Amino acid sequence: MRLTVIGTGYLGATHAAAMAELGHEVLGVDVDPAKVEALSSGRVPFFEPGLPELLSKHVESGRLRFTTDYDEAAAFANVHFVGVGTPQVKGSYAADVRYVDAAITELSRRVVGKHVVFGKSTVPVGTATRLQQLGSKIVAERGLEDTSIEVAWNPEFLREGFAVKDTLEPDRVVLGLQKPGAIVDGAGREVEASAEAILRECFAPILERNTPIIVTDTATAELVKVSANAFLATKISFINAVSEICESTGADVTTLADAIGMDARIGRRFLNAGLGFGGGCLPKDIRAFMARAGELGADQALTFLREVDAINMRRREKAVDLVKESFGGSLLGHTVTVLGAAFKPDSDDVRDSPALSIAGSLSLAGAAVVVHDPQAMETAKRVFPTLDYAPTIEDALRNTEMVVVATEWKQFREIDPVWAKDLVKRAAVLDGRNCLPSQEWSDAGWDVTCLGRG
Ligand code: UDX
Repeated sequence: MRLTVIGTGYLGATHAAAMAELGHEVLGVDVDPAKVEALSSGRVPFFEPGLPELLSKHVESGRLRFTTDYDEAAAFANVHFVGVGTPQVKGSYAADVRYVDAAITELSRRVVGKHVVFGKSTVPVGTATRLQQLGSKIVAERGLEDTSIEVAWNPEFLREGFAVKDTLEPDRVVLGLQKPGAIVDGAGREVEASAEAILRECFAPILERNTPIIVTDTATAELVKVSANAFLATKISFINAVSEICESTGADVTTLADAIGMDARIGRRFLNAGLGFGGGCLPKDIRAFMARAGELGADQALTFLREVDAINMRRREKAVDLVKESFGGSLLGHTVTVLGAAFKPDSDDVRDSPALSIAGSLSLAGAAVVVHDPQAMETAKRVFPTLDYAPTIEDALRNTEMVVVATEWKQFREIDPVWAKDLVKRAAVLDGRNCLPSQEWSDAGWDVTCLGRG
């Protein structure tokens, strides 16, 4: 098939390369010429394991190209995926949908013939219906015969760090249609390829492996995505709330998580207590969900997400307080090393990163903060240029008075505490992700503080 992918950030670039891998001819579209230039030469402008290889493979095979030109996009294919960003609006909780609106507007101004658009971005419920009206109106104004645009929703559940695998081997495919069911004539025959048939063809190799597909209306499909992220955020904040109780009672949240996680109804995954969630999705998605509920007059339904957000932010404050306490209340004149800047390992993404937020708070409270991250140094420098960035773990540890492990990179989990102790001025560590072998660190002479572990 020929198809376009509009928006070539995390989601779009991965989707475009994955579609080429499935055998399709793909044109990636982005308004940012620098991004298009990088991707066209096989360079991924962010860190995602496995993606550079997949991208170069298909740029070289000729199955994958990139452009900034919407005329080319509308002429190239009748099937389009939209994976543009929906960031949080400044000064509000709502999602900014201007980029999805722009993608539909630009396409609708140019399409000739029947086109189907599959939205992949995470959007407030009701967006697909509104976009359908927007697209249909623009197309109608052009007065062309046999020209239409159909907007369906196909949410994406990929995790950063596993984006390629999650796209090629998803747990499930969800498709929301304006009118679920194929278009049939009076005799019950299918009269044209429905959006469902097109998506099934696009994803054929995935669906052949018995990957479940759920076909529903657009509102349900939109809600599946935000509900999934709200549930994951709630699960993390639940264990972090219990972690606060563990701190007051001397109980151990990790053992507790292991024990409750053995109940198959609960499950151990996403029960790692620590500094909480960050990134480009979970924080903004729960806020946008609350904002949308308010618009719908159903705000009470999601007020618990306010608490989920508050518990999450409290973990960051707690970490900063523990570092202060360790120095007797004041950070002035002290050096603190923060290991980690990315919001999670195997990523260079620092959006709403607990690690970078803690580094920033410690610095604002008067500490000299040294940061090291295996991948996120450049992205972190752009957000917080005033922190001191050390090129290696060794440089970051040398003469420091306290170490905060804020992102559970393998490189940090595997630090030899005996080796590290010889580098530092004061052997104190705060394990913000409960990821270190704490006994080994204590045995090596470190003063170890954990979150939620007595
Ligand atoms: C998330 C969803 O998992 C994914 O399905 C969706 O498509 C996009 O949002 P991602 O943002 O890549 O993916 O990160 P994820 O792996 O979910 O982690 C989110 C945050 O939660 C990270 O900051 C991580 O450190 C934190 N986390 C995760 C915990 O604090 N504890 C856990 O047990 C799990």
